Amino acid sequence: MFLKKGSTIVVLLLVFYQNTNSQSVDVSKRVDCYPEPGASQDACQSRGCIWTEAPSSSPVGTPWCYYPTESGFTVQSTGTNSFVLAAKTKNPYGNNISPLNVKYSSNGATLLLTIGNDDRYVPPVNFPKKPSTSTESLKFTSGTIGSSDVFSFKVTRASTGVALWDTSIGGMQFADKFIQIATYLPSKNIYGFGDHIHKKIRHNLDRYTTWPMFARDIGPDSGSALSTQNLYGVHPFYMCIEADGKAHGVFILNSNAQEVETGPGPHLLYRTIGGRIDMAFFPGPTPEQVVNQYLQHIGFPFLPAYWALGYQLCRWGYGNLDAMKTVISRNQALGIPLDVPYADIDYMNHYEDFTEGDNWSGFPAYTQQIHAQGLHLIVIFDPAVEVDYASFQRGINADASFIEWARDDQVPHNIQDQYPMAKNTKIMLGNVWPDRNTAFPDFLDPRNNTNAWWAGEFAQFHKTLPFDGMWIDMNEPSNFDTGTYNTVEEQLASAKLSCPITGSDSSLDVPPYPTQAVYQRNGEYLFSKTLCMLGKTAHRTRDFYDTKNLYGWSEARATYQAIPQVTGKRSAVISRSTFPSSGRYGGHWLGDNTARWGDLQTSVIGVMEFNMFGVPYVGSDICGFNGVSNEELCLRWHQFGAFSPFSRDHNSEGMPDQDPAVWPSVANAAKIALTFRYYFLPFLYSLHYNAARYGHTVIRPLFFEFPKDEETLNISEQFLWGSALMIAPALYQGQTSVHAYFPSDTWYSLQPETYGQKMFSGFNDVNAPLSSLTPVFVRGGFVLPRQSPGTTTTASRLSPFELLITVKTNAASSGDLYYDGGDDLIPNDDIEQHPRVHWQFSFTSSIAGGVLTGNCETCSTAVRPPTLDIIEILGYPSSPNFNGFKLDGSSVTLDMTKTSYNSANQRVMISARNMISLMALKKKFTLSFTNLNVYL
Ligand code: NOJ
Repeated sequence: MFLKKGSTIVVLLLVFYQNTNSQSVDVSKRVDCYPEPGASQDACQSRGCIWTEAPSSSPVGTPWCYYPTESGFTVQSTGTNSFVLAAKTKNPYGNNISPLNVKYSSNGATLLLTIGNDDRYVPPVNFPKKPSTSTESLKFTSGTIGSSDVFSFKVTRASTGVALWDTSIGGMQFADKFIQIATYLPSKNIYGFGDHIHKKIRHNLDRYTTWPMFARDIGPDSGSALSTQNLYGVHPFYMCIEADGKAHGVFILNSNAQEVETGPGPHLLYRTIGGRIDMAFFPGPTPEQVVNQYLQHIGFPFLPAYWALGYQLCRWGYGNLDAMKTVISRNQALGIPLDVPYADIDYMNHYEDFTEGDNWSGFPAYTQQIHAQGLHLIVIFDPAVEVDYASFQRGINADASFIEWARDDQVPHNIQDQYPMAKNTKIMLGNVWPDRNTAFPDFLDPRNNTNAWWAGEFAQFHKTLPFDGMWIDMNEPSNFDTGTYNTVEEQLASAKLSCPITGSDSSLDVPPYPTQAVYQRNGEYLFSKTLCMLGKTAHRTRDFYDTKNLYGWSEARATYQAIPQVTGKRSAVISRSTFPSSGRYGGHWLGDNTARWGDLQTSVIGVMEFNMFGVPYVGSDICGFNGVSNEELCLRWHQFGAFSPFSRDHNSEGMPDQDPAVWPSVANAAKIALTFRYYFLPFLYSLHYNAARYGHTVIRPLFFEFPKDEETLNISEQFLWGSALMIAPALYQGQTSVHAYFPSDTWYSLQPETYGQKMFSGFNDVNAPLSSLTPVFVRGGFVLPRQSPGTTTTASRLSPFELLITVKTNAASSGDLYYDGGDDLIPNDDIEQHPRVHWQFSFTSSIAGGVLTGNCETCSTAVRPPTLDIIEILGYPSSPNFNGFKLDGSSVTLDMTKTSYNSANQRVMISARNMISLMALKKKFTLSFTNLNVYL
């Protein structure tokens, strides 16, 4: 072959290019090019990737087949805050889309970035996207990788120059069904991504770990050292704490099957198999501000009815109504605070939604009875409805939409035609609890027909059974025994829902890269345990492949929106499957855990994570769902569960009873922990208000308040209620004390044995008796509202208010109290319009005395809160002069039988009947006092 002069250069350049491309990458910074099983050198290199075996000393999971660093897309043209890219690297799972658009913009302090063309699918979630505020700003800069022309970008924190994202690690891909982007991370302090079991709240970036995200009916497995299984919901959101303690957050809106691989770079690799990449970067700089900015974007959580903060008692497998009554009344008889009896699917007639079974004929009367006691009822509803009874017929009559096959020739008519109501439809039939086949309502139906029918079913059923809250389960959606077929004949032979695994119809059910959600479960498919991906949703406009992860979210929205027409009162919806912004519509329980210590431990992390995900009303099944619980475990779980925003004991079918009354010791511990909870319900409710009104968390990991204290960054077994209350539950068998961490600050014990004592900073061993209160501590500098507890929230709400003031040297103490009708609807779902009273309190003290001020920030005269009668101050160094109390200048006569000063633990108790009105007319008050023995 003859070469012209210039060709030598071309050849040399090619050689150079190949050399650069085959340069091996450090074992800590590899972008996996062969994520499915069966990698080999040949297969790897035929993808244009590099194969280098990793020495045994390498981080666990180091890929041997990885992308050259200089791989991805090049810039074709640049516009204002936008780029058009051209594919440069081969995509192993389809052709890269080229040209490909990249755009960025800002929304307040939040930086938005979209990768993907306008014709790509975007989840129909309609986020509010309120502009965020921050003292910090973020900067987008584009560049190229190394000496190549491969596009990369950075998102940096303007104040420090720290790169929050830096995609110069390479490996970007964008085919129709395989999209990925990788980035270096500024630190290994990564939190979030869900729904998974995490053994520690902080991810382990010393190894490579892939976390699939695909809503699936799989219970959390805390029994193994590491389980990366994708659980019921999908939350592509994480937070990172940088080296200097500043926090940022990143959210990727995408509802396809997806996953994230974290690695020791530190870096992460995000993959999805559809849609596009819509990112939001939140600058913080505090962890709480990151969540706040995230919630501005996706929407603030709903405000649960007050009663929903009470203790809830549930089980699957009450054989009949009498069994339920027995359990409820034996716990009430022991004085255990209890607000919400539950009925699981047992109450239905053959597991059909909106029906009652024969053994439950007295259920409506019993509901009236529990209402008369101030209790409320929550019952379960599954999305799948049997296709041969009245509810379904009404759905058909209303032209409601159900998940459908794409074409009539895909419909297995041997099954379909057995049902006159479904016969001439393309509705995809599955099998869940009901005896016969079921249809799955299409809650994304944009015409609202489906949601209107759904609400109507609730409303009609509510006339029979006046339930108060809705528990929506199986909404991944779960389908039993979904099978496979290669030919139409095979499909017709199967009595179960079967999905195509070969042929042109299988492109969505068997995509080129089905994600680790499938690979982790040998022999399974994306449709395993659910519907076929080729199904149609959003009234025939979308593939189920794209929207599957929105199913629980859309059902929660439909159910929440039905409430005004169903109960006509504020309520609570509890959903198993969640997606970003599910918190607007309901709460969540952590699913089918097991009665094991490991499951109790990971519950603490789950509750903290869902608070980061904007679903603060969350808790685990107390005592454990699967398996046989035991006395000690159930006791400890109650001691912890009493501090979960959603506090419910729940048990599986066939398991022995595990309600507190089963064991005297559990009853005692549950009563103590729950009585404490009920005492502080005004504080908990105020936290929920702040979540609903301003977008805050209710439960916080310690690092949220102390991000600069490195010790807090991996504390996984302690948590805070708001900023002020710290709980350090016992979570291990045989444990008698907790090695609890106290960040440098003022902390007072609230345990009866050490009440009011100041705790040393650092690690302390605190007693955790089985027969006493969970270790719980209050932070100095706060004012916490509370009410003397009854055994229901209804009774507790009638008690006068109290304030617990904790003194921090040289600092004022502050706090707030929110109060409203408790279960009145929020007009137009706009809390701004809601009649309410919100007080801000501030307490200052000096050697001379103390001053407590109250300011009613939002004051509605329609709301009539009880009076403030009791004030307790912890850490007050001298005795007040109890004869010198002044309220707005007038003397206050204290009830001296309940007023005292204890110098040993520096505790002041101040009491007077109807001392301070918290009614709206007051708007503000000042209570002042001098100290004894002070001569000025
Ligand atoms: C699965 C749910 O996760 C569980 O809580 C419930 O008891 C059963 N379904 C039966 O409804």
